Amino acid sequence: MPHRKKIQIAEIEQRLIVDAIYYRYHYDFRGYAKSSISRSLQAALNHFNCNTISQLQDRILHHPNDFAELLSYLTIQVSEMFRDPEYFLVLRNKVVPLLRTYPFLKIWVAGCSSGEEVYSLAILLQEEDLLDRSIIYATDINPQALKVAEQGVYNIDRADSFSKNYLISGGKKSLSDYYISRYGKISFDKSLRKNIVFADHSLATDSVFAESQFISCRNVLIYFDSVLQERVVQLFSESLCYRGFLGLGARESIRFTEQYNNFEEFSSKEKIYRKKVP
Ligand SMILES: C[S@@+](CC[C@H](N)C(=O)[O-])C[C@H]1O[C@@H](n2cnc3c(N)ncnc32)[C@H](O)[C@@H]1O
Repeated sequence: MPHRKKIQIAEIEQRLIVDAIYYRYHYDFRGYAKSSISRSLQAALNHFNCNTISQLQDRILHHPNDFAELLSYLTIQVSEMFRDPEYFLVLRNKVVPLLRTYPFLKIWVAGCSSGEEVYSLAILLQEEDLLDRSIIYATDINPQALKVAEQGVYNIDRADSFSKNYLISGGKKSLSDYYISRYGKISFDKSLRKNIVFADHSLATDSVFAESQFISCRNVLIYFDSVLQERVVQLFSESLCYRGFLGLGARESIRFTEQYNNFEEFSSKEKIYRKKVP
């Protein structure tokens, strides 16, 4: 009985802190999967040395700097370059030949984190001679991640796994041709980001901003509940041109959303969908 009571209180506190964040800072986590928010809050309690979520709530309501730190717990930032290299291989071999038929490309990387996915796409497009006629919108809600993304600088100890993925993904050169290394960091060439626009955009609250031929939104939907997933897939459907492509993460799918019938499975294994012409 006492254990059950404790669980219920934590659930109440979780709802309250999510509401508090929304009213105080306008970040909307109300449609995120409860289990994921719970894990993030548990980790944050240790970091902030708080015993309860209510204590944490008090702290972040009154201290915006603490909220900025909490945001890094609530928005999971795991990423890597050419993550799931087979996805990028299918993009290169099967999607790019179709994208090539457009005179100009708008590409949206939603939930771009610190930029690893965006630079991967920029390199791929560069090698396929498409970067010059593309504009890539790279969006996220985490300002710190967007800042890193704009800089394109990563720790050198990540370079090996980035390079390995790049080669499996069909990379035509050596990844090191695209960056310089110094002081323990690798810094990606500025020319890669000349057609990238980094912007703050929330999939939970903001609307469509451009008609795109390709949207890549990987490893973001898994953190959302089914209602928010429905909203986001609808947003993607409205943002894509007919015959446009939507790429998701390995553990994500639109199969159970109402929009599913408006798409065909272009590559089921790599979770790449194509919007149908009605
Ligand atoms: C696990 S990372 C995925 C990064 C990259 N797409 C990848 O697959 O490597 C999830 C990203 O989604 C972002 N995110 C979470 N909620 C979001 C929202 N409502 N709108 C836009 N981005 C969001 C997080 O800030 C984080 O950068």
